[in-house]
Amino acid sequence: MEHSFWHSKWQKNEIGFHEPAGNTLLMKYASSLLSHNYASSSLTRVFVPLCGKTRDISWLLSQGSEVVGAELSEIAIIQLFEELGVTPTVTTSTNGKVYTKDGLTVYVGDIFKLTSRDVGDVSGVYDRAALVALPSPLREKYAAHLMAITKCAPQLIISFEYDQNEMAGPPFSVNEKTVDALYSAAYNIKRLERSTLEGGLKGKVDADNLVFALTAK
Ligand SMILES: C[S@@+](CC[C@H](N)C(=O)[O-])C[C@H]1O[C@@H](n2cnc3c(N)ncnc32)[C@H](O)[C@@H]1O
Repeated sequence: MEHSFWHSKWQKNEIGFHEPAGNTLLMKYASSLLSHNYASSSLTRVFVPLCGKTRDISWLLSQGSEVVGAELSEIAIIQLFEELGVTPTVTTSTNGKVYTKDGLTVYVGDIFKLTSRDVGDVSGVYDRAALVALPSPLREKYAAHLMAITKCAPQLIISFEYDQNEMAGPPFSVNEKTVDALYSAAYNIKRLERSTLEGGLKGKVDADNLVFALTAK
């Protein structure tokens, strides 16, 4: 998708993908992201690509994790901090603005401009509605870039599977085969859940929720 597509969605507040109460599948399967390394007493630090203003960030912070986000739309990030009820410090890096406050850092701009130095050492990646937001050719570029900037940190991926002929994306259908094609060279992939998406996708198409845990080989 062009950047203008997403900017326009945020400008018009057409954000049906946003879950005001957060994602219950994250709460169910977060252990793969939040296993503390007690030996080195290091904190968990989770990267949330294409983060929007997800409430899942608030939940991850409440679990004691640091969070790093990447999001194209500054509107989303202004709303994210407003809804967290905190006033961020805003600085400018070579690639755009950086919003920070108490364990949360969000890079505003194109994720493909982020480096591993920006992201830092992360203990996990939480991909909800990121991979499915991207059309097929961009997904390969995204997966390769994500692995590079996070050094193949473990991932929790929440995606949808549905008949792509019945609806144009986004969200696109991303099934087990696709996740395998993108990541199996570098990761062991475990499907944690397949469940029916209640009410279907956008109320139009039957769909399943899929949850995957990826750990580096
Ligand atoms: C479907 S939304 C999902 C947002 C969030 N993960 C959630 O669960 O609510 C996809 C988000 O990716 C952002 N986005 C799209 N392309 C991007 C890019 N190249 N770099 C950074 N963010 C991008 C969009 O602005 C949008 O907020």
